[in-house]
Amino acid sequence: MSNAIKLVEVGPRDGLQNEQAVPTAAKIQLVNDLAEAGVNYIETGAFVSPKWVPQMADSGEVFAGIARHPGVTYAALTPNLKGFEAALAAEANEVAIFGAASEAFSQKNINCSIAASLERFAPVIEAARAANLPVRGYVSCVLGCPYEGEIAPEQVAWVAEKLYQMGCYEISLGDTIGVGTPSKAQRMLEAVASQVPMQHLALHFHNTYGQALANIASCLPMGVRTIDSAVAGLGGCPYAKGASGNVASEDVVYMLDGMGYTTGIDLARLIDAGAAICRTLGHAPRSNVANAELAK
Ligand code: HMG
Ligand code: MG
Repeated sequence: MSNAIKLVEVGPRDGLQNEQAVPTAAKIQLVNDLAEAGVNYIETGAFVSPKWVPQMADSGEVFAGIARHPGVTYAALTPNLKGFEAALAAEANEVAIFGAASEAFSQKNINCSIAASLERFAPVIEAARAANLPVRGYVSCVLGCPYEGEIAPEQVAWVAEKLYQMGCYEISLGDTIGVGTPSKAQRMLEAVASQVPMQHLALHFHNTYGQALANIASCLPMGVRTIDSAVAGLGGCPYAKGASGNVASEDVVYMLDGMGYTTGIDLARLIDAGAAICRTLGHAPRSNVANAELAK
């Protein structure tokens, strides 16, 4: 089995959706810095309702301002057709729809039930197919929900399979509130992989309880090869109170490198990209690796 890992950088979207008043120019700089560090998949923004998430209201300007690097995928979240049309106009290379394994979280995050969300996603997938854009599908709350608590692995597998059958080429499994532990993550991944081939699955783990790296490490031997992370550990979800950042990209790259996996990313430049956006945000990177290297 290949040791090459696809790293999906979600910092500019998942990270910055949770930060107030970040200048558009700083977002553009971050995306460009990440591409220059060798990151070849960057979730660049979200075309969601600005009333719900005002932090992403300038995503069109971000897409318009970046210097596109050949071979880099610049992706956007699109909850509905309105969002999809905006992503198309912005020349996103890929779009992502986002559902949940928890009914309560689905209501809070996208204002509809799981069943209604699937109906809403169908025309987005159809429009994306017509425009030749690949669609990624997220499932949130795969290891626990801030409103419902425990989520059965079978429920995660059910939603993931639906999204896959509907045409998502990859299903990203979100531990939105970072509560999972390694054996739980393995059980969840095993249940999902019984319905969706492993090569079409991604791990999207937040680090709220400090378990994300351990969870990723425990799942790698099962064959998963796509990992979502955010530079400087940026992130959180506005609809999951207390949820802190995604696992830091610097920590993931360092760990993968040490385990003999490859990402094609220049760690030093990645650390610089995270340090630059953190200067704008006014806080230190939430990455142990970045802080250790920056202290040298
Ligand atoms: P709604 O209020 O039910 O939608 O929101 P609506 O269709 O009734 O529209 C209401 C208003 O929003 C209308 O404007 C629409 O035009 C506008 P008005 O007529 O009142 O002036 N609108 C839009 N504007 C811009 N772009 C759009 C759009 N759609 C409607 N695409 C909706 C439903 C889904 C739109 C809303 O709930 C929403 O935008 N939710 C987004 C929430 C969000 O972005 N959450 C964070 C991302 S998910 C996440 O972080 C988890 C993840 O990282 C994985 C993990 O960690 O688990 C992916
Ligand atoms: Mg997330």
